[in-house]
Parts: sequence; C-alpha cells; structure tokens
Amino acid sequence: MARVHNFSAGPAALPLEVLQEVRSELVDYRGSGMSVLEMSHRSRAYQEIFDDTEVTLRRLLGVPDAYKVLFLQGGATLQFAGIPLNLMRHGRAGYVVSGNFAQKAWAEAQRYGEAVALATSGDTGFDRIPARAEIERAAAGQDLDYVYICQNNTIFGTQFHELPACGETPLVSDVSSCFLSEPLDVARFGLVYAGAQKNAGPAGVTVVIVREDLIEDGPALSVCPSYLDYRLEAAKGSMYNTPNTFGIYLCGKVFHWVEDQGGLEAMRERNLEKSRLLYDYLDQSALFHGHAQPSSRSIANVTFRTGDADLDAAFVAGAAQRGIEGVKGHRLVSGMRASVYNAVSLDSVKALRGYMEEFEAQNGTR
Ligand SMILES: Cc1ncc(COP(=O)(O)O)c(C=O)c1O
Repeated sequence: MARVHNFSAGPAALPLEVLQEVRSELVDYRGSGMSVLEMSHRSRAYQEIFDDTEVTLRRLLGVPDAYKVLFLQGGATLQFAGIPLNLMRHGRAGYVVSGNFAQKAWAEAQRYGEAVALATSGDTGFDRIPARAEIERAAAGQDLDYVYICQNNTIFGTQFHELPACGETPLVSDVSSCFLSEPLDVARFGLVYAGAQKNAGPAGVTVVIVREDLIEDGPALSVCPSYLDYRLEAAKGSMYNTPNTFGIYLCGKVFHWVEDQGGLEAMRERNLEKSRLLYDYLDQSALFHGHAQPSSRSIANVTFRTGDADLDAAFVAGAAQRGIEGVKGHRLVSGMRASVYNAVSLDSVKALRGYMEEFEAQNGTR
C-alpha cells in the first residue's frame, strides 16, 4: 500500500490506524448489522458513539463543566456568523485581523453589528501576529462583547504564542488549524471553535466549545437561525437536526488516537520537533525563505518560498514525483506551505527536509 507524505492544509492527513479501524467497522459496526453511515442519529448505538466522542474530547482538553461542546456543520465559516449572532449583545466586538480567515470573520461580523479592528498585520503581508500590548491597548475601555482572534493562521503560517488579556471581555478564538496540536486552556476563552478537517477528523464537522453563561439567554440577535442558536443546539445535544453522524464518529476515533499517542502534551512535543526540523533548515538556507516572522511561527503550517515563482513551481512538481503532496502554498502567499498536523509523521517531515536540501544543492543560491 502506497501512502504519500501528505502536507495538505485541510482536509489533511488522518492517522492510518484510524482509517484502518474505520474500514474494519465500515460494513458492520460492531455486530449492529449496519454501517455507521446507515444508522439513525436517534438510535442507541449512535448516541453511544456521540457521547463517547464528546466525553473523549472533554477529557483530552480538560473542558470545564461550565462549557458546552457542540458538533455542528457548515464549516468554521458558518461560525463567522454564529459568533456575532449569539454573542454581540451590545452590538460591538473587537477583531484582531491577523490573516485571511480572521478578515473574513471580521467582515461577516460587520453584517450584525460594529466589528472594530483592534490590530492587523495586513501591512506586512500577515507575516506576524500583532503585538499583544497593541491588542490589549486597543481593546481597553471599548465595552466589547468579545475579542476575536484566529489563533493559528493556516494560510500565512503564523500563530499566537501568547493570548491577549482582555479582563472580563470574553476571548473568542478560531483554533481550526491548531486544535489538538497542543494543550488548550479552554477556561481562558468564552468560546473556541474549530473546523475538524485539520487535526480532528474529516471536513463537515465543526467543534464549538462555549461557556454556558454566554448562551443561557439565547442568541444576542433574534434573526439568528435556529441552527446557529447555541443554546438550542446545546439543549438538543447537537441534534436539533441530523448531525454529520459519520464525521463525528470519525472525530471520536481521532480523539482516541490522540489519547493513545500520549495526549496533547505529547502532540505538542512531536509537532515542535517536526516544525523545528523545517524552521531550522529555513534559518540556514540561502535558497528558501520563511514567510512568517520567527516570533510568530506556527507549529502547524510552515510557509516558505524561494522568491522565484518558476523555481517554486519546480519544487512543488519535484515533490510530487517523490510522493510529497500538498506543499503548494496558498495563492495569497504563493511559494510553499507544509502543514505538519498530528497525523503527519516525523519521517514525512524528514523526507520533505531531505528533498529541500537536495533541491537547494541542485539549484544553488539565489
Ligand atoms: C483557521 C481557519 N479558519 C477558518 C477556516 C474555514 O474553514 P471551513 O472551510 O471549514 O469553513 C479555515 C479553513 O481552512 C481555517 O484554516
């Protein structure tokens, strides 16, 4: 069986063990005589799968009891609207515009209220996370319903390494591309959410973890669609309508896999080792240059380029010939991007680094 070195930014590599387990259960789930794909979401067998998925995630992250965990559809993008619709009670929130997805969330929030840009790194091509002091200064005394950040900017390869302290103002974070890459102190947030398709499972599941007191009065805006009403979804156990049954089942498998690997501390160690292998090479390379400023570098998405579009294209083509897939950068940054999520092995990263060395030896310094 040939499996490529998959550096895709999402949907992304899943653990082989998980895929094999799912395959073994696909046609007849544990003697039920049917596939999870065919199972009613109201059945006892499925409720057990769902409950186990939630309990495992709560255990992994240490989610406090005062938080609800929701498994929704519509991608992370639907939450760009769900967050203001539920939480903008006084019509004003602060956004840190640190990349494309933060910008989209900020634009979406402007449909529902005043979304203040607290800080941005757009002037330098989103190559860094705005300074914490700048964010805190901008948020101070603004009477904001929440402060919104995108913790890991998938496209640009930057990550918050310290969170802004905003006093009583809830911090809301899009953790899509760093979810389960490392420990997450849920209690620091009013809400965190993640599209599953990087580290948690397949596309089509979005995990929302929200502090109960923020939603107990229902959505802030009465136009909020029922589907996006966090209180309603929590009351219905994420089954106000038919959930993504198979996707949630698969997420559960991934959560168990992460536990079996040693949990989130172990994930962090592995991800640091993998990303360091690439960053160390970038720091001494005369050909490749990293996009992110060193202090803002992401543990999950490593962005780099040669500065010559033809050479970048040759690098990507040569990678594919060596079974190294998914390294073409996003068009907003160009160059290359290697996403080194949990299921990407150290061996895959070594293969990529080896190829970078080979490519540089062949193409000289620029
Ligand atoms: C950080 C981040 N936020 C939001 C999104 C949008 O997610 P979706 O495509 O699930 O709506 C992505 C997608 O890659 C992302 O990386």
